Amino acid sequence: MSYAKLIGSGGYLPPRVVSNDELAAELAQQGIETSDAWIRERTGIQQRHLVEPGVKTSELATKAAQAALADAGITADQLDLIILATATPDFVFPSTACIVQAALGASNAAAFDVQAVCSGFVYALTTADAYIQAGRAKTVLVIGAEVFSRILDWRDRGTCVLFGDGAGAVIMQASDKPGVIGAKLHADGNYANILCTAGNVDQGQVTGDPFLRMDGQAVFKFAVTALADSAQQVCDDAGIRLQDIDWLVPHQANVRILNFLSRKLGVDNDKVIVTVAEHANTSAASVPLALDVARRDGRIKSGDLVLLQGVGGGFTWGSVLLRI
Ligand code: UT7
Repeated sequence: MSYAKLIGSGGYLPPRVVSNDELAAELAQQGIETSDAWIRERTGIQQRHLVEPGVKTSELATKAAQAALADAGITADQLDLIILATATPDFVFPSTACIVQAALGASNAAAFDVQAVCSGFVYALTTADAYIQAGRAKTVLVIGAEVFSRILDWRDRGTCVLFGDGAGAVIMQASDKPGVIGAKLHADGNYANILCTAGNVDQGQVTGDPFLRMDGQAVFKFAVTALADSAQQVCDDAGIRLQDIDWLVPHQANVRILNFLSRKLGVDNDKVIVTVAEHANTSAASVPLALDVARRDGRIKSGDLVLLQGVGGGFTWGSVLLRI
């Protein structure tokens, strides 16, 4: 039996940090009223990293991937697959994964994108695990990367204060030691309209609505239930008790969702990795960024049992249980 084992991780955040106060002051100039107090109280967010105009998802992804390669101590030519999760690709095509493949010089790697919005990284990691278990790949780079600021409507205070830009990456390699020990993905397209960016290009014109739209309360309720049920299911399937998990790394959308989740699961709050205060919601990048932060600061260690969880547009959700 071959497991997919994590051998390295990396993250990259654009250098421009925008505090709630700075954002509120910028929005006030457009006549949009918000405040640091509202954002902190309702979401736990204190700041976000935003790209300079023109910076693309592939640039953030490449930097996160280089950090993960360095951490793993391998070179790009050792990769045989790159899976990149994003809802904000550089182009309609080529895939952002192919752009990263060229930038890294990963000449032996196939490359494709996965689109599952905020669950994208968990979807991509599960796919990497399947490739490795099937013997079709040995060393896989999995990236979550977003320039979400591109699709925000800065006149909509209900959404524009919630998101940030960034990228996180992991290297997974075939091993006889665990590894990913459980994974389960879900989708329900009937909930597409509570969180979507329902626009595209057609005949050279933007069609539909190119901005992110969200029914915040509906998403909040869906997220808590989906994450709790998914955690329980993946643990049951793997024969693991929730109390035996060392670290929970859920999608970072709102600290209130994370508090509800830990309460519902009976998992101590201090076992939950929380980066939403500093990063805001970076969609597909949020889980690998949080994982990388906690590995680098020494909280997540070799041998720990970690539950990674995504939930987002589609609707999509899922969990990956991973022995580090
Ligand atoms: O990654 C995908 C997953 N996304 C999520 O998980 C997001 C889930 N949803 C949420 O996190 C929360 O629903 C929000 C943070 C989006 C909103 O929090 P809420 O407690 O559900 O607030 P609300 O939408 O019920 O709005 C409460 C009030 C409203 O005013 P009225 O109608 O009570 O007068 C809003 O207009 O807060 C107002 N409001 C704001 N006020 C100041 C909404 N946005 C803002 C804002 N600043 N930025």
